[in-house]
Amino acid sequence: MKKSIHIGIIGAGWMGKIHSEAYRRIPITFDLGGAEVRLRYAADVEPALVKDLVKRYGYEQWTTDWRQVIEDKKVDLVDICVPNFLHKEIVIEAARAGKHVLCEKPLSNSPSDSREMINEVRRAGVKHRIDFNYRKVPAISYVKSLVESGDLGRPSFYRAFIGQDWGFKAGAANTWRFEASQSGGGSLVTMGSHVIDIGRYLLGDITEVMATSWTEPQRAKGPQFVDDAMILSLKFESGAIGTVISNWLAHGRKHHFEFEVNSEKASVLFNTERLNELEAAFGSDEEAKQGFRTVYIGQPHPYGDSFELKTGMGIGIKESFLIQFYEFVRCILEDSPSSPDFYDGWFVDEVIEKAYRSVRSGQWEKIGKWNEP
Ligand SMILES: NC(=O)c1ccc[n+]([C@@H]2O[C@H](COP(=O)([O-])OP(=O)(O)OC[C@H]3O[C@@H](n4cnc5c(N)ncnc54)[C@H](O)[C@@H]3O)[C@@H](O)[C@H]2O)c1
Repeated sequence: MKKSIHIGIIGAGWMGKIHSEAYRRIPITFDLGGAEVRLRYAADVEPALVKDLVKRYGYEQWTTDWRQVIEDKKVDLVDICVPNFLHKEIVIEAARAGKHVLCEKPLSNSPSDSREMINEVRRAGVKHRIDFNYRKVPAISYVKSLVESGDLGRPSFYRAFIGQDWGFKAGAANTWRFEASQSGGGSLVTMGSHVIDIGRYLLGDITEVMATSWTEPQRAKGPQFVDDAMILSLKFESGAIGTVISNWLAHGRKHHFEFEVNSEKASVLFNTERLNELEAAFGSDEEAKQGFRTVYIGQPHPYGDSFELKTGMGIGIKESFLIQFYEFVRCILEDSPSSPDFYDGWFVDEVIEKAYRSVRSGQWEKIGKWNEP
């Protein structure tokens, strides 16, 4: 087993900070068998931001040129936290330099770009991970285990809504997220990508999508406008169906990601505002007692013994990043498989592209097949 992993991070904005904190916490939360996680190199085009990152989290070096991070011989893992349109070039350069790569979602702005990126990481033989961090929220990991154990029976329906109000914030519309050439799309890309991934994680591959979108009329006149709200209908390979709604102009919704899965034997309902709870209803309950009950997620559940907390005390969303990066570091150290990987990123990019195509065509659009490893 390798004895240390040196992190090079590109992007010192919001995710740059969240990721850096998670790396710092890995060795004090998890047993890495004596291996070290070293914060080696940080890059951002804004010197003030990258200097602040270095000061707060203790990187050894900083630069405003991301290529220097990739060229650094000590860096083992390149972590990409920059706007979406930059992911492709950085991933390809990092893979060619033999670095393991962690990329924020979405993998890229198109499934064909994502395919190129996958070809490069496979050719280079490096580990790759897409940061669909919600998979690592213990309540969601637990739902996955209930699907796999058969306790829920066959899932037939997925209903998911992700709502925020930050699109109303002053200046929001001037950020890269509202510029199609930089973000690749609006609420569906920024928020809906997580929701599509969780649907696929729990119910399996998606085969068709039909979608409709809405953009605030004044903004829709601009050349680079993106969706403010999207509604997707989904068909799954298993025969299940689902719906995904994203909306970043939803007053009262700060970060509301809610999903319900209806299955043969039970239904489960989850909402990020109650990150440590799961609502579950079992068809086998005596009829007079039927209905949703609250399951408190904690010690008996995935990663429940990692945080020195009793059930009911609760973790936060930052722990999902911590778990994600710990798992990735571990699979680099042990040379074991990584999940979610870039193929999972490609799949979501494919659903998104076909959803936008469906908005234009008014038809169901088929999700393409590709060579999953
Ligand atoms: N997993 C999640 O829940 C989650 C949440 C938020 C954002 N994201 C993703 O993370 C990525 C970054 O989002 P963010 O919210 O941190 O954005 P941000 O705007 O806060 O930060 C992006 C940073 O990239 C820097 N940057 C831009 N061009 C650069 C370049 N050429 N070289 C180096 N640095 C450059 C900017 O100066 C900025 O500091 C996006 O892909 C986004 O979709 C994921």
